Amino acid sequence: MGYAAKGWCLIALVGILAYLCRDNFEPTNLANARVLVTGASTGIGEEIAYHFSRAGAELVLTARRENALQEVRTRCLELGAKKVSLVPADMASPEAPERVVGQAIAALGGLDYLVLNHIGSSPFQIWEGDVNHTRWLMQVNFLSYIHLASTALPHLAESNGSIIVLSSVTGKIPTPYTTSYSASKFALDGFFGSLRHELAMRGIHVSITLCILGLIDTQSAMEKIKDKISVPAYPARDAALAVIAAGAGRLREMYYPWYVRPACFFRDWFPQTRDWMIQRTYNYSPQEGEEKA
Ligand SMILES: NC(=O)c1ccc[n+]([C@@H]2O[C@H](COP(=O)([O-])OP(=O)(O)OC[C@H]3O[C@@H](n4cnc5c(N)ncnc54)[C@H](OP(=O)(O)O)[C@@H]3O)[C@@H](O)[C@H]2O)c1
Repeated sequence: MGYAAKGWCLIALVGILAYLCRDNFEPTNLANARVLVTGASTGIGEEIAYHFSRAGAELVLTARRENALQEVRTRCLELGAKKVSLVPADMASPEAPERVVGQAIAALGGLDYLVLNHIGSSPFQIWEGDVNHTRWLMQVNFLSYIHLASTALPHLAESNGSIIVLSSVTGKIPTPYTTSYSASKFALDGFFGSLRHELAMRGIHVSITLCILGLIDTQSAMEKIKDKISVPAYPARDAALAVIAAGAGRLREMYYPWYVRPACFFRDWFPQTRDWMIQRTYNYSPQEGEEKA
């Protein structure tokens, strides 16, 4: 094949890829959507609430700090939200998920989107055996998610709604300093991946979108990683829009920013390269005699 023919093939391939990856997201489709966002008092959850508000959605926001939630509600109403209710709750408490979903249904009269986003605070450091912290974190980051989802499921089934689950690249590729956090995100992948199959088997039209994010510039993330690693952080506002677009498009998985998808795709193909990159990022070398991947 000559150079010209190869060139045309390449252009056609790029065109096909661009068509397949085109952005079909239309925010106006979210006008009047009934949405429950957890962890909405700050960070990505706050930005998710603002994007839904711009589209004219009806929202219920939850997190622990009522004052912070009130400020978010004021901004949501300025941006165009039809209605914003607040349900302060601590997801470490086993009764919180049922109460939050119950109050959300009472306020909205149903539910179209359940956005599971909150996380408990966990240190970015070497594992020192604090099993109690891991137990607490699994309650906040994992068990409360499945409790919220199972309570909301009948309402989502009625509306052919969507569950959006915020996960992390460390929920696909383990990295240092994130033992319990990473475990909680892997657990979400397993649970919601299995549930997605079961919903399809039962003919229940509720989509589940797992959002796999790299480093995002929220205050809590930036404070955690400082002094430890230096990798580019991407804007929470853009991450939040990508999350909503994926949820509205009923995608199974979404990756943000650009490098996360190839990293996850190649993770098992090139384990040595994967580990070498992690070692470079975390600035360590394997100890002598350590088993090679
Ligand atoms: N930022 C990143 O680099 C990054 C990367 C990958 C994935 N993600 C994922 O994206 C999501 C949001 O991350 P983020 O950086 O925006 O987090 P964040 O800024 O730390 O916000 C966490 C939210 O969860 C709430 N929260 C904390 N503890 C809670 C509890 N016990 N009960 C109920 N709510 C609680 C917080 O509000 P209150 O303090 O008011 O309760 C806050 O609204 C998480 O699922 C995270 O794993 C983030």
